[in-house]
Amino acid sequence: MCGIVAYLGKKPAQPILVEGLKRLEYRGYDSSGVAFLDNGSIRVQKSVGRISALEAILNEPEPDQTLGIGHTRWATHGEPNTTNAHPHLDYSGKIVVVHNGIVENYTTLKKWLESEGVSFVSDTDTEVAANLIGYFYGKTGVGADQKASNGQHEFEWAVQQAIQELQGTYGFAILCSDFPDVLIGAKKGSPLILGVGNDEYILASDASAIVEHTTQAIYLADNEMVIITPDGFQTKTISNVTISKDLEQIEFSLEQIELGGFEHHMLKEIFEQPSALRTCMQGRLNLQDKKIVLGGIAAHLRELTRTQKFIFTACGTAFHAGLVGEYLLELLARIPTETEYASEFRYRNPIIEDGTTVIAISQSGETLDTLAAIEEAKERGAAVFGIVNSVGSAIARATDAGIYLHVGPEIGVASTKAFTGQVTVLAMLAIELGRRRHLSSDTANEYLEELIKIPDKIESILGMSDHIKSIAAANIEQDNWLFLGRGFNYPVALEGALKLKEISYIHAEGLPAAEMKHGPIALIADGMPAVFIATAGPQYAKIVGNIEEVRARGGRTIVVATEGDTEIGKHADDLITIPHTPEILQPLLTVIPLQLLAYHAAVLRGNDVDKPRNLAKSVTVE
Ligand code: G6P
Repeated sequence: MCGIVAYLGKKPAQPILVEGLKRLEYRGYDSSGVAFLDNGSIRVQKSVGRISALEAILNEPEPDQTLGIGHTRWATHGEPNTTNAHPHLDYSGKIVVVHNGIVENYTTLKKWLESEGVSFVSDTDTEVAANLIGYFYGKTGVGADQKASNGQHEFEWAVQQAIQELQGTYGFAILCSDFPDVLIGAKKGSPLILGVGNDEYILASDASAIVEHTTQAIYLADNEMVIITPDGFQTKTISNVTISKDLEQIEFSLEQIELGGFEHHMLKEIFEQPSALRTCMQGRLNLQDKKIVLGGIAAHLRELTRTQKFIFTACGTAFHAGLVGEYLLELLARIPTETEYASEFRYRNPIIEDGTTVIAISQSGETLDTLAAIEEAKERGAAVFGIVNSVGSAIARATDAGIYLHVGPEIGVASTKAFTGQVTVLAMLAIELGRRRHLSSDTANEYLEELIKIPDKIESILGMSDHIKSIAAANIEQDNWLFLGRGFNYPVALEGALKLKEISYIHAEGLPAAEMKHGPIALIADGMPAVFIATAGPQYAKIVGNIEEVRARGGRTIVVATEGDTEIGKHADDLITIPHTPEILQPLLTVIPLQLLAYHAAVLRGNDVDKPRNLAKSVTVE
């Protein structure tokens, strides 16, 4: 949610910032801007819309402009217009700021600054931060060549003073026209990474904007700042204690974040699922020894096996993976499990007793609601683990231990491979805990053997993409869809509906199939598509009954069934068959046609699949 990038080095900054912003565009894409120091003053250029719109208005890059900051925005305070776009100048015109996060006490600070005679031009919380830094900078009353008494320069001092007044979250990159070779970054709550190259530094919200230039990085922690000059960088706490930080290796490559011949990141990520899941299981699932090794939680297995109650907490797609995890843990390990939206968990006084383990699930590792739920759980004394994709992210750091997905970076805003990665990890966890409790080793081994076959089976479903496209095309005029499943496929129905809503803007509802008759059946009208997951399993006959209820009322049935089911064709207007797998693993297969259906529907409707309207990939506001 909002992406920031800043450059200090020897190359012209502008092309590097623009390229970095394009890589960060999935974080927010309603407006963007850049700022450079220009002969003692600051030049800001901003535009509404995508980075391409900004690019169109930018001047030719100047070779000696080797320092600059940029931002791509997902509006929180103030509509997406040029005035509210970042970078924001302070009232003196000497300080310029890009910001990711939310200044929660901005109203109070704004009133106070106004009472001090400071004027504002935008509706944003960020301008308050810029003006506050400017206010403190003005207080120093000294020029560029004077130093504050404690050895700091006054720009750095002013940033520290201002930031200490801010409540909320921030990743900042800040310039001051009196200090033409200084870039300052500061972090709390929102991510900020410093890429350290040869004679150049790239400060960015995430590694995708850095990896083209260097794979060496410093991950700033909360309440830390970095002061960068051509001579090097210094890391400090916001309260001015110098700290030393280790250089870390960025874990992914440029190739992983490029389109690689696919039309969209989402399609690439759907097709990457077989290889992503193989990597996710690699080194963890050993068929020879019939063992699961989950290194990240190995030291906690006794505690996890004795857990009295699990609570999964997550948002969006990760919440749906949590629901599958609930079914898996309860069935295989016989441990009571609840799945809670992170936003609800935090505010409803959750019951955490001795023996309760909270597991946060998140692709980005940044989602603020999930982070807040983790804090709440910790305060109440729960052990908190994470199932996270983004290595080193805030959620990964905030949890006691966890399991990384290792499915590679996910750029498409609609989550796909992260979901199957999360379910794969949850299946491994449930089988392992089950084996340590009630599950026979024969049954556990059978599941392991089936789990390892999943990537090949996904590959065969991906081969049906054109068939699924034709189903999307046949139903594309319909504005209301239902997704229905039972048991393990109920969360998949929710996920299928979410995918369709997110990227095709078609209204869709996911339901447990049996619930349809308690209300939603009233919606069924001529031609309304109802997507049923009717795979082999104990509830098969019941769901066939539900399909007929829809057909009797003129609905159009799109049915996902198991290969070899010779009866189901009679009940389906459109049929998609998937390979056989045990019911507990079916979500890993049944979700694939639903991802493709949503993808093709969105393309057919002419939507921007990777950057759907109003959404952002990581949501760092409550
Ligand atoms: C946003 C994204 C969703 C994602 C959800 C949770 O809403 O658009 O695709 O499922 O956040 O994100 P997380 O990174 O915590 O999994």
